[in-house]
Amino acid sequence: MSMPTPRPPQGAAPSATAPAATTGPAPRADETPSAGLRFPPGFGWGAATSAYQIEGAAKEDGRGESIWDTFSHTPGRTRNGDTGDVAADHYHRYAEDLDLMRDIGLDSYRFSISWPRVQADGTGAPNQRGLDFYRRLVDGLHERGIAPMATLFHWDLPQSLQDAGGWESRDVAHRFADYAEIVFRALGDRVPVWLTVNEPKTVVQNGYLEGHHAPGRQDPDAAYLVAHHLHLAHGLAVAAFRATGSGRIGPALNLHPCYPADDSPEAARAARLYDGYENRLYLDPILTGRYPQDVLDDLGPDSRLVRGIHDGDLATIAAPVDLLAVQYYTPYYVTGDGATVGRWPTSQASWQQIHPDGMYDILTRVTRDYGPIPLTVTENGLPTPDTLDADGTVDDAGRVTFLRDHLAAVHRAMAAGVPLESYHVWSLLDNFEWDAGYDERWGLVHVDYQTQRRVLKRSAHWYRQVIAANGL
Ligand code: FCB
Repeated sequence: MSMPTPRPPQGAAPSATAPAATTGPAPRADETPSAGLRFPPGFGWGAATSAYQIEGAAKEDGRGESIWDTFSHTPGRTRNGDTGDVAADHYHRYAEDLDLMRDIGLDSYRFSISWPRVQADGTGAPNQRGLDFYRRLVDGLHERGIAPMATLFHWDLPQSLQDAGGWESRDVAHRFADYAEIVFRALGDRVPVWLTVNEPKTVVQNGYLEGHHAPGRQDPDAAYLVAHHLHLAHGLAVAAFRATGSGRIGPALNLHPCYPADDSPEAARAARLYDGYENRLYLDPILTGRYPQDVLDDLGPDSRLVRGIHDGDLATIAAPVDLLAVQYYTPYYVTGDGATVGRWPTSQASWQQIHPDGMYDILTRVTRDYGPIPLTVTENGLPTPDTLDADGTVDDAGRVTFLRDHLAAVHRAMAAGVPLESYHVWSLLDNFEWDAGYDERWGLVHVDYQTQRRVLKRSAHWYRQVIAANGL
């Protein structure tokens, strides 16, 4: 079996601690929108977060434990032993964060709902206090003219469901549909766009192949069965959505252009299979109702994935969706023996090669291969070793360059016919970056974790100008 190389655990990185402040630098003259790249009227400018990475309040208002509580509290699993217990304290500071979003001028805010806040053990009656938090958040977005985009599952599976088998258990897909229905009934009238499962591939690769994400397994055969059950969960949630509400729904997939590393036929073949494991294993079942045959052949007829596909599953998984959310961070270059090599500079996250053209390639490829399904970019971003300077500013010029170059690629893709409706920076706030803990800062907004003070970085000021100009 060939296996993709998922992002490795990242190396140590500097963290920032400095006095807090509230203002930030204005964009430099060469950063003000001047490239003449205007986006279509109504294009949605957004930013994204996820529940476990920002909320904190891990034991409040009836929240149960998730697999990320367990994992982050297990010695050796996260850098510096960091956990999401407090994170950016967004559960308490959401109103301030909503004001920051308004100040930046966001049209759209993508966040996730914590399943164990809504059902502490992943089953049974909803926890009203958990639902009330998201209702306050969503109402606060509407009050500020920002469209909510809610992800149902961003990796924080209730620990009780993990104890019952986790995503290796088919039953968990049905529990997910029950949970989704509760959330649709509570918030369906006020959330126009829903995303089902965030990056199923990362659960498969990081959680079950590499083991550096929760639940920390290293079991390839289990991993691909997990992929099937995540797809099933997606499809069952779409069915529940159609039965309970209006609005739009789709999956959130992290996609990677997979280029041959050289001109050999071996590299071309290996890159094609790599693409199967990175992209088509996730796109095809949902958008075409079939698993990619090359991947099934590679896994073999005895694999738990192949044996785990029941009659009717693919019809459930391929229930029509309204949009596809694409998350782009890095390309892969694949050699004839199926290994990957680096071609571009990496960021502080060693798994990330900075290659803006990859954004163009992956967006145009999705439209070419899967038709004109509406697209939204729901994550794209860069960690930088930001520090709060003595004058109270955070000068993340590298993030400005990264975002500008990727947005130019987005613009080119749209000019080539890609039906893209919105773009979200990962992330609104510095936050708990999974196994990398708080060392990697991905936010437009700097968070001082000692005081929880927020400071708009240079990139946030720049993004505000882009949004106001509707272009670069
Ligand atoms: C994505 C995740 C998101 C964050 C970014 C950097 O894979 O969906 O939570 O970790 O990477």
